[in-house]
Formats: sequence, C-alpha cells, structure tokens
Amino acid sequence: MRGVILAGGSGTRLHPVTLVVSKQLLPVYDRPMIHYSLSVLMEAGVRDILVISTPDHLASYERLLGDGRSLGLRLCYAPQPEPRGLAEALLIGREFIGDNQIALILGDNVFHSPGLRTLLRRERERLKGCTLFGCPVPDPHRYGVAELDSSGRITSLVEKPERPTSNLAVVGLYLYDNEAVSRAAELKPSDRGELEITDLNRTFVESGTARLVTLDRETTWFDTGTHDSLLQASVFIREQARRGRPVGRLEDVARYMGFVRPGGHGRSVG
Ligand code: G1P
Repeated sequence: MRGVILAGGSGTRLHPVTLVVSKQLLPVYDRPMIHYSLSVLMEAGVRDILVISTPDHLASYERLLGDGRSLGLRLCYAPQPEPRGLAEALLIGREFIGDNQIALILGDNVFHSPGLRTLLRRERERLKGCTLFGCPVPDPHRYGVAELDSSGRITSLVEKPERPTSNLAVVGLYLYDNEAVSRAAELKPSDRGELEITDLNRTFVESGTARLVTLDRETTWFDTGTHDSLLQASVFIREQARRGRPVGRLEDVARYMGFVRPGGHGRSVG
C-alpha cells in the first residue's frame, strides 16, 4: 500500500496565519501538524509515502521530513500546482502509486485512538473498493456527511450539506484499491472547479464497494482547519502528553512498528 498526504490548499479559514505559512506546518501543541497524519499512515504499516503540497511550500516539507530514512520510510514529494481538489492527489500521485492500494490522508486531520493500529491493519486486510471512516459530530455541515441504512450500508454521501441528514462526518482518511486512480481520472470538476473527494467516494457507493467504519468512542478526531479546532487539538495533545500518552511522535511510532531497530539511528529493517 502506498500512502499519500495532502498538505496543499490555501487555508483560507486560518487567514491571516496561513497567508505565508502552509497550514500543515503550523504547530499542534509541540509538533508540526503534518506529523500527526504521517504517524497515522505509519500506524497503518505504510512506509512509501508521497507528500503533496503547493509549489510555494513543498520545499519546506522536504526540509522538515527529508527522505524519511531515519524513520524507516521512503518519502517523496510532488506539487499540486493549483488547488484543484483532494481527489486530484491520486492523479498527481499516479506514477508513485503504480498498481498498489492507496491510503490517502489529509494533512490537517489529527487522530488519536488506542486501537488505531489494529483497526487500520484489519481494514487494510479486508479492503475492497474504498473504506471510509465516520465520526459522529455536532456540526456535520462542515464535512462530507454519510447516511447509513439499518445494516450500516452507505445510502448517501454529501459534501458540506446545508441541511445534513445525519451527524456522521466522513473523516480525512481514505483507503482505496487501485481502481480509485482511474475513477479519479474520470471525475468532472465541481461548481467550484475541484475534483471532489466526495464525488470519488460516491462512485464506490454506486458500485456497491464502499464501506464505512464508524470510529469508536475511544477515538478522538480533529479537522484542524479552523482557529478553534486547531486550539482544541493542541489542548487535547498536551493533555495526552501530560498523561504519558504522547501522540504523533514519529520516532516512537517508527520504533514500535519495527521500521527502525531499537536504539538504532536510521537503520531500516525492511
Ligand atoms: C475535506 C473533505 C470532507 C471531509 C473533511 C475531513 O473537507 O472535503 O469531505 O469531511 O475534509 O477533514 P475540508 O476540510 O478540506 O473542507
């Protein structure tokens, strides 16, 4: 499986903070935001990862994360020249993805769950089509929203509905089989000129190969795209660190995932 982190966008909801700084480089407590999404891909056991950002900011990510070798990873970088939507990541990453499965994560999403590693491993093994993750939220109009039938099957997916028909937000972590690349290539831009991730996911709903896993109560999820959610995420991460449960520590994740030898620096075992 290949990982793709999307760290583009203009972060308009965080202006003026993001006028000159890329959103996913902002601190969430004591780490740059992108460390949290990178740690999720690592917990999923993904080691080949493409970071996509704007042409202006890509070099900063490269300076921050390098080639990933010290974490037992192989990191690559690619620009998204214009903000043409989240689904465009699969087209930008086409060669990098090759004929592999894909884990796409948005660089402004922060997850914490004691069971994340087990959940992601299980979902990787049973992946067929696309697997989405849902989280009940009080403000679903901010997100892609899924409606399920009584057997848990997705009956509708709508991007930022004015009148949401459920409180289940689709979080910014998507597992796809390779077909997603050709499906992304067939998408038409939305009214705002973007290839919408929700449109891509809907194609899987229509072909009966979309699965949604509702995150359990032990899981905390933040989309840190607003000032308030960024602050809430920072406070949460600080609280976890104080309780001795640090989140997003890449070196620790690399060690317990067996990507590097204990005590060894930059010695990949795989
Ligand atoms: C994006 C997606 C949306 C998803 C959200 C999760 O929205 O379009 O479907 O629910 O990420 O973070 P954005 O935050 O880019 O507006």
